[in-house]
Order: sequence, then C-alpha cells, then structure tokens
Amino acid sequence: MKINLEFPEDFLWGAASASYQVEGGIYNVDWTEGAKIGKVPMADDRVDHYHKYEKDFALAKELGQNCQRISIEWARIEPEEGKFNEREIEHYRKVIKDMKSKGLEPFVTLWHFTIPIWFYKKGGFLNSDAPEIFARYCNYVLRELHNECKYWDTINEPIVWASNGHMRGNWPPFKKNIFEYFKAIKNQAKGHNLVYKENKSRYPNIEIGIVKDNINFRSDNMPWNRIIRKFTDYHWNHYFFTKIKNNYDHIGLNYYFDSFIGRKPNWYLELPKNDMNWTLSPEGIYFVLKDLERYKKPIYITEAGIADREDKYRASYIKDLLFYVHHAIQEGLPIKGFMYWSLLDNFEWALGYEKEFGLIHVDKKGHRKVRESAFVYKRVCESNKLEIE
Ligand code: BGC
Repeated sequence: MKINLEFPEDFLWGAASASYQVEGGIYNVDWTEGAKIGKVPMADDRVDHYHKYEKDFALAKELGQNCQRISIEWARIEPEEGKFNEREIEHYRKVIKDMKSKGLEPFVTLWHFTIPIWFYKKGGFLNSDAPEIFARYCNYVLRELHNECKYWDTINEPIVWASNGHMRGNWPPFKKNIFEYFKAIKNQAKGHNLVYKENKSRYPNIEIGIVKDNINFRSDNMPWNRIIRKFTDYHWNHYFFTKIKNNYDHIGLNYYFDSFIGRKPNWYLELPKNDMNWTLSPEGIYFVLKDLERYKKPIYITEAGIADREDKYRASYIKDLLFYVHHAIQEGLPIKGFMYWSLLDNFEWALGYEKEFGLIHVDKKGHRKVRESAFVYKRVCESNKLEIE
C-alpha cells in the first residue's frame, strides 16, 4: 500500500553548499595557509561554482528545488582589513539574483568556516576585537545585499568550528586549548549578537538566524554515562543558544549523526555506515528537532546528507530523514524547509575531495552528472509529498 505524506504549503526544498567548498579560486584564507604547511588538503578549482553557478542553479531547478543555500566568502569581500571589494559584492549580487530568477529562494550564510589571512594572523576569533571585526564585515554585506535576500545566517556551526580548530587541533588554527575553545565560542556569539542587533533594526524585513550543528546523543543505561550524555547534549546542542538569547529569527539545523556514549548494543553496531564512517541514523533528526522545540522559532533544516560515492544509500536515507521530519511537523514543530547537503560533490574539509555528498557528482575535470538519488528527491520536491510503501 502506498501512503502520501504531504508537507505544508510553501515548504522550501533545496540543497546547500558553502563558498570555500565549491567556488574555487580562494587562496587567501586560513585553510590555504594550513594546506601550505601540509596540515590539511588544498581546495582547488575543480568544482568552479564561482563561474558555473548559473548552470548549477539551473540543475537545481530541474531537480524540482525551490530554494538554495550558499555562503559568502569573507576573504573575497574583505581581502585586506577594512578594505571591501565591491566587485565581489557585485558577484554575489548576481549569484543571488540568478537564483531568484530561477525561482530558488536564497538562503545566505555570512560565514562558513574560512577566515581571511589577515584576520587569521591577528588571532582570528581569539582576538579581543573579533566580535567587532566580524560584525563590520557582516554589516557591510548586509548593507549592500539586504534587498536581495530575506534569509540570512551569520555563522555556520560555531561549535563544530571551535572544536575542530581549538580543541581537536585538526582544522586551522590547529590548537588544542580548552580556554581558547571557550573564548572562540564566546567571541563568535558576541559577533552574532552585534550583527543581529545592528541589522534587525535597520532592515526589519530580513531574517537573521544561526546555523547549529546538533547531534542526537544516546547512551547506555549506566548512571555515569547518562550524566555524561546530559552534559554533552547541553554543551553541544544548547550552550550556544544561551549566548545568543532573543537575537535570532530562525534556527538553521544541520543534522548528520548521533553519538553513542557507553556500550553500543548489537543492533546499533549493525546499522550501515556512510563513507564518513558515520552510522546511518535518520531517526536522530526527529529527536534533534524535538529538542529544538523549546526555542519556539521557525526551523529550517539547512543541512542533512550523506557521503555515498556509490549512491547506494542516498535515496533511501533522504526518504527516511523526510519521514521523520514529516512526523515532527505533524507534532506541531514549525519546520519550514529542508536543504540537502550538498548540491554538488565538493571539498570535504580535512578529508579533501574523497567524500562525495552531492546530488550531483562532480569529477576532477569539473564535469557534472546528476545522481539517480537526485531524481528520487526531485519527486518529493515537485510533489511536496513523500510517497512511502
Ligand atoms: C558543514 C559542511 C560539511 C558537512 C559534512 C557540516 O558540518 O557545514 O561544510 O561539508 O558538515 O561534513
């Protein structure tokens, strides 16, 4: 028997990407500095979305989508401290206009992980003026582009960024220092708050949100592990919200996996894994969404996806995710859109180009090929419903 699960009218369906991961031609950021000393791979120009965005958005449109998430590259806009590059603003203006002309509602993130070298050299988010420096860049972009786009997000995944760069030491600035970790988070939050306060009063028609990376934490029944689970859940999923109280209009949720504290049961160990070695746990999105209900804000799923070079699990994973998203909507959660990560195969940070998340495969020469799973997602986007057997 087939059942159709209908999504709300006006639901946004799309895909996401981030400037450094797809644009090419960006060689003045902390990541390129890290690549020069061999600590992370170098992103190259193979995807070249900077020049091919019209074609890519045309593909997204053909795939039935009606929104698209991108990010703006800070180092293009402000290549030297305080000097803003109007040509690059015009580039992004064209990009956003192109999306709109194709019927794709733009979602724009102001900062997705990479920082200009000049800021990196000043200590990045550890600099005591970091909040103002970050706000100055965002204010400039919003002054120029607020008329072009309604949905803005300041920061992509503050906790992931701070933990990889300041605690685990595997992303720039390659630090392992708990105090600096907290300082970086504090300064990101302060920067976000400045941007929100200054720009909401100036441009009341735009929405300014935050993109949070939430994990579904599970544990076994050992009391100690249950306590660790509670604490980790609070820190990873909610701490940042306590720092930006009342200063956001929507939540962008990025969901990828769950994390099991304690002894994993056999049924869990047997679940399939994706190419990142992450356990496929689509139901986790439901728990993570329910956990955001307390903030009483509209929620856009700004990323959820799977690295799956063979395209073996992608279609069913997307359908499973959407089943749980639909269930959460039925329970009254204000979920307004879903953006699959990612539109294109791209630079997967410290893992380079090996991991392929795209609805569209991109080879080394930049040729695009739509994957079979993208057509399954297309049926959902076009009909605004999920068909299940
Ligand atoms: C990030 C993306 C990344 C994806 C898959 C998210 O943490 O926002 O930039 O590619 O996860 O790892």
